[in-house]
Amino acid sequence: MSETIQLKIGDKTYDLPVITGSEDEKAIDISKLRDLTGYVTLDIGYKNTGATKSAITFLDGELGILKYRGYPIEQLAQKSSFLEVAYLLIYGALPTAEQIADFQRQINHHTLIHEDMKKFFDGFPSHSHPMGQLTALISSLSAFYPESLKPVQTAEDVNLTITKLLAKMTTIVSWIYKKSLGHPVIYPQNKHDYVTNFLYMTFGQRTEDVTIDPVIVEAMNVLLILHADHEQNCSTSTVRIVGSSEANLYSSVSAGISALWGPLHGGANQAVIEMLEKIKEDGGDTDKWIKKAKDKNDPFRLMGFGHRVYKNFDPRAKIIKKACDDILEKLGIDDEVLEIAKRLEEVALKDPYFVERKLYPNVDFYSGIIYRALGFPTEMFTVLFALGRLPGWIAQWKEMKENKEPIGRPRQIYVGAIDRDYIEMDKRELVTQ
Ligand code: CMC
Repeated sequence: MSETIQLKIGDKTYDLPVITGSEDEKAIDISKLRDLTGYVTLDIGYKNTGATKSAITFLDGELGILKYRGYPIEQLAQKSSFLEVAYLLIYGALPTAEQIADFQRQINHHTLIHEDMKKFFDGFPSHSHPMGQLTALISSLSAFYPESLKPVQTAEDVNLTITKLLAKMTTIVSWIYKKSLGHPVIYPQNKHDYVTNFLYMTFGQRTEDVTIDPVIVEAMNVLLILHADHEQNCSTSTVRIVGSSEANLYSSVSAGISALWGPLHGGANQAVIEMLEKIKEDGGDTDKWIKKAKDKNDPFRLMGFGHRVYKNFDPRAKIIKKACDDILEKLGIDDEVLEIAKRLEEVALKDPYFVERKLYPNVDFYSGIIYRALGFPTEMFTVLFALGRLPGWIAQWKEMKENKEPIGRPRQIYVGAIDRDYIEMDKRELVTQ
């Protein structure tokens, strides 16, 4: 007999089904609650609401565990490539040598973007934020590749759109960077693997056949793998909910990019470096900034600290801190900001305010320092997060479609005015908001 939980309202008792996940996570299925009782549940910010059943990513915030399709993030970061992880997330299994070669071939076949799209790059003001450009450009892919809009999509149609999106993302991201410098764009060279091609288009020159340092390729692979999926976070939930209206993949992902931009989510990596720079310019007094972060009358938060689900440590942060030390050493870079970051972490981890609230460094506390060491400007950091998260968004969108999930549509508790009569304009009184 399947497990149930009893809910008592007044003198009535209701049996609600219990759902158990493969890692023994438990949920009370309340999908029939309103029909049965007239009640809805209220959970602002979805802090305790399971929005779906997913077989893609598992994380345990208390134990600091993160797995993609059952594989620990530590093993994937150490042994895998970003493209292999993308395949794993989207198609559910690690690819064979033949499958990954074919996947790479298909992607290389689609790395060019329609030449007319170049006009968009020229249309943006030269200093417009790369994330604003990225969301617009990804959405506009639906205009150039309209097969994504076909009302009935075969598996081949969906796969073609997935391949095009993965392929064109690297070209778009590197061209945004090139345009920000006022430099000519570099076309993809299909002899390269996914990550090397991206770095080649980003740091390459038109006149030379630049070789990308394997140390940089390796660091980039690790960073992208660590960001590749993170179950039902703000941007991924956005992608699923937009996709649930049967919007095409490009516009669903574009909406995810917008959600990622905010400093409480993906925008944190830019905000961390800006914060560390500010602390440096201010003399490097970390105690002063910790005090500010604790002051409830001060809006300042320690960026790169805290996480909605990790309440012990962020396993990605552990890997990234080590990668940060390694890459700076390999590239011979001595970044004062890294020292400030380490001091800040040390002080915060001992401070009762952070300890009591279980606030630890998250993945983006150190990622910006690595991106900077690799040569990326601060405003590109969140775009790089988006490049990493793309396979996760695609996998989650695809799963949502395959599971035939209904359109996302939460309820609310209305707390506004009731039954007002319309007032003519000349009779209204000023209400200050
Ligand atoms: N600095 C100072 N205080 C903090 C911080 C911080 N970074 N984060 C949370 N708090 C305090 C917060 O003021 C609250 O205190 P109190 O209980 O006294 O009111 C308590 O900790 C709980 O915070 P919350 O905002 O209710 O927690 P949340 O789960 O809603 O938010 C968070 C999680 C990540 C938005 C938040 O910790 C934060 O704003 N961190 C800084 C931004 C950041 O680094 N974001 C990147 C997250 S990792 C990348 C990704 O996957 O998106």
